[in-house]
Amino acid sequence: MSKKLLLKDAHVEGIRYFETYRKQGGYGAAEKALKMTPEEILEEVKTSGLRGRGGAGFPTGMKWSFLAKPEGVPRHLVVNADESEPGTFKDRYLMEFLPHLLIEGMLISSYCLGSNVSYIYIRGEYSWIPDILEEAIEEAKAAGFLGKNILGTGFDCEIYVQRGGGAYICGEETALLESLEGKRGNPRLKPPFPAVKGLWERPTVVNNVESIAAIVPIIDITGAEYAKIGVGRSTGTKLISACGNINKPGVYEIDMTITVEEFIYSDEYCGGIPNGKKLKACIPGGSSVPIVPANLLLKTVNGEPRYMNYESLADGGFATGTMMGSGGFIVLDEDQCVVEHTMTLARFYNHESCGQCTPCREGTGWMYKILKKIEKGEGRMEDIDLLWDIQRKIEGNTICPLGDAAAWPVAAAIRHFRDEFEWHIKNPELSQTQNYGLANY
Ligand code: NAI
Ligand code: SF4
Repeated sequence: MSKKLLLKDAHVEGIRYFETYRKQGGYGAAEKALKMTPEEILEEVKTSGLRGRGGAGFPTGMKWSFLAKPEGVPRHLVVNADESEPGTFKDRYLMEFLPHLLIEGMLISSYCLGSNVSYIYIRGEYSWIPDILEEAIEEAKAAGFLGKNILGTGFDCEIYVQRGGGAYICGEETALLESLEGKRGNPRLKPPFPAVKGLWERPTVVNNVESIAAIVPIIDITGAEYAKIGVGRSTGTKLISACGNINKPGVYEIDMTITVEEFIYSDEYCGGIPNGKKLKACIPGGSSVPIVPANLLLKTVNGEPRYMNYESLADGGFATGTMMGSGGFIVLDEDQCVVEHTMTLARFYNHESCGQCTPCREGTGWMYKILKKIEKGEGRMEDIDLLWDIQRKIEGNTICPLGDAAAWPVAAAIRHFRDEFEWHIKNPELSQTQNYGLANY
């Protein structure tokens, strides 16, 4: 059984409220941290090996150490709760059921970073969660864990919740900052990184909800103990939101030593595929990461079992591997059509492109149109190469990673499932009435 750090009390009735959270030992890590120096906390976070849980996996301690500290300029912590990656819903679970874990993590992080005013930028569609967070903030404030002179330390901290307007692009950290400043959420060119020039041009750390929640157990058990959980550079535990063709969709906390096979088939996690269907493919890290066919999902290129961690999932690079990403684990059974699935994603990225860069603005639209044609049985063989060419011209040529995120699913689908694209083109009549999966298994 995986060790639970974040969700250990998720089953406790009333854990959403301060009193119950406190009874379970909540805010103990904050009390401990406020007796430490910010430098000591930073060392713990670095030692823990925690990597950003939003998708990029950037070492959190390193990000914090990049924070500029010019004299007299305020610094900010901004929590990225704009969780919009298709297939990803782990942060929603944390905020809805364990809001105080996030608030406690924010208090410790704000103290370490020197942020007296910190923000949670939350996805607009999570319309019921801001109230839960704001209630938790009020409770923490009433108990002396937020506001002025917290626990008599002289440290002041306010937390504000900002609702997003429903644009996926505002999850990109610089677009998020623009939106938080009240502007249209257009991504900025990096560098400068937010750690140097962020919110209102002030040094800012932007971290994902789960990353900040993980600061609580890191301080609780120490960074060194946290680093012993997991394997290699995949330390600690990771939340995975599992969905698609599985018996038990939901949010699971894993310790990154289990295999993909165990995660899909064990009753502790996804509980296998309904109706005894075969596994066709999986997108393990949210819709932006490459789709992997079953044979490469269960084994690496070297024939080793594939594990649910950053290194093993990426084994083989983009040619055969994939990424841990945001932990949005989407399972496709044998009945699914990869062309149809890729088309749906292409439509999403085209709709969500902010339109600043030509390759993304135009390329995502072209990819969607071509995929739609192929899926309807109106494509030509040369369209497959055209699609390949367009995705290559998007990748690496845009301001923000949305361009890459739109290109990678198309590249991986063609690389691994070219036969499905060809089937639609060769069987125009069939492809108008059936999908590839149902017609071929
Ligand atoms: P990134 O690799 O550009 O940056 C990661 C983090 O490290 C950022 O906060 C960045 O500011 C910081 N950083 C990197 N180099 C730095 C330096 N030299 N100095 C200071 N700070 C530095 O990746 P990004 O754009 O933050 O995230 C992309 C990922 O987000 C994708 O891989 C995707 O999986 C994920 N994603 C997640 C979504 C969700 O709903 N959770 C939605 C969309 C994408
Ligand atoms: Fe906007 Fe797309 Fe360019 Fe990102 S890559 S800045 S979403 S046009």
